[in-house]
Amino acid sequence: MTSKAALSHIPGPPAPPVVGHTLRIVRDAYGFQKQSISTYGPVYKTKLLGIWRVNLCGADAMEMVLLDKNQNFSSKLGWDALSRLFPGGLMLQDFAEHRQNRRIMQAAFRAPALQEYTLHMAEAMQSLVREWPVGKEFRFYDAIKELTLRLGCAVFMGLPPESDLARKLNTAFINEIRASLSVIRYPVPFTPMWHGVRGRSFLRDTFRSLIAERRAEPGDDFFSQMCQATDEDGKGWSEDEILDQFNFLMMAAHDTTSTALSTMIWALGAHPEWQDILAAEVADIGDGPLDSDALAQMTQTEQVFKEALRLVPPVPFIPRRAVEGFSWKGFDIPAGTAVTLNPGVTMLSSEFYTDPERFDPSRFSPNRAEDQAHKFAWTPFGGGAHKCIGMHFSTLQVKLFIATLLRERRVKLTSPSGPEWQRMPIPRPENGLPVTLHPITMH
Ligand code: HEM
Repeated sequence: MTSKAALSHIPGPPAPPVVGHTLRIVRDAYGFQKQSISTYGPVYKTKLLGIWRVNLCGADAMEMVLLDKNQNFSSKLGWDALSRLFPGGLMLQDFAEHRQNRRIMQAAFRAPALQEYTLHMAEAMQSLVREWPVGKEFRFYDAIKELTLRLGCAVFMGLPPESDLARKLNTAFINEIRASLSVIRYPVPFTPMWHGVRGRSFLRDTFRSLIAERRAEPGDDFFSQMCQATDEDGKGWSEDEILDQFNFLMMAAHDTTSTALSTMIWALGAHPEWQDILAAEVADIGDGPLDSDALAQMTQTEQVFKEALRLVPPVPFIPRRAVEGFSWKGFDIPAGTAVTLNPGVTMLSSEFYTDPERFDPSRFSPNRAEDQAHKFAWTPFGGGAHKCIGMHFSTLQVKLFIATLLRERRVKLTSPSGPEWQRMPIPRPENGLPVTLHPITMH
């Protein structure tokens, strides 16, 4: 770990003893960051969760670190906080080892496999959305988290979403995810980390028993694909590797999509003209199955999705650790330094986006294409070797959700002011985003 003394030449805001900047960052991550950039420039140091970090801000810094031409930036060490619960996940691997495992996982994300998942999801999505109350207020964020997890059990594991096992797995996942973000990092009895570690072993036991079953009789679910997947040389995964990769994948897929859909629903409630545009787009598809071809027609929905990810990216910061020392913008940064990239604030920069705080999905239309100003101007899915492997999957899932919902319902926000977003660690609306749904005919 790099000491404060080794970073004495890097500017940064004064740090209160012990806690450093942690409380300020947790309270107002973006405000703190914008103020630091304007005072100290795009390279400055902060102390977060006991570690001194160098913030490298802006699209050029993201390009340099994420493309990582010299294999100098470790994702495994950057995401160290996740290593107790998710060891061996793709994001916790580096360089040659990561490349090989990524090739194997890629097999489960090929276009024909995605088409199968979409068809699977369409049916489950419709019955889950129909469970939501009509004309009665509920917290959208809580409901969408439950929906994506239950859908995950159906699509990723081929389990009926209402099965008892799916319910138990949901609880275990929720405990695991909560623990990955908890302040106490050891499994002291009854703390979130303790529940998380127990959740992890329940999940591993369950997955283990499914492996033999799915190897003998593969379905078209994601888990079966992962049990079968090999790279071009025919190398597949051992049981333990499947368990670790799958466990991480479920975590990576879940909170991120819930946040993105919450932002979209907030936006459609706050900007009803956009809800009308998307409803018309959905009506244009007709009543046929919501397969990949139908979803490909939802170009306005895609623009709203991109804008939601720009305004409230589920992963607003990307951490890495420098293996060797390097120089950036005139600063020498020593080996071992924790480095933080800031896609969140970069995507709110007026350098690339007109009126950047405004919800304006048309900025992604082909004639404006503001995101094309720089290769790393729009980076909610990261970039380079670790770029989100679920990007296309999540786009399909989001479109499917919007089409399913708007075929039968309209959304209204019930809180007069927009939600405050808690940005750290994964953004969520502080008030849970209360909404009501209305049948389409009463609109
Ligand atoms: C809106 C939804 C999503 C967002 C915004 C998102 C964002 C990201 C980002 C920023 C990274 C890169 C982190 C880094 O470089 O350190 C990442 C990696 C990853 N994501 Fe996603 N993600 C989403 C959905 C999904 C879904 C649905 C899946 C799986 C089906 C998934 C699986 C993964 C995996 C496995 C990685 C690690 C890739 C690697 O290290 O090679 N993500 N995601």
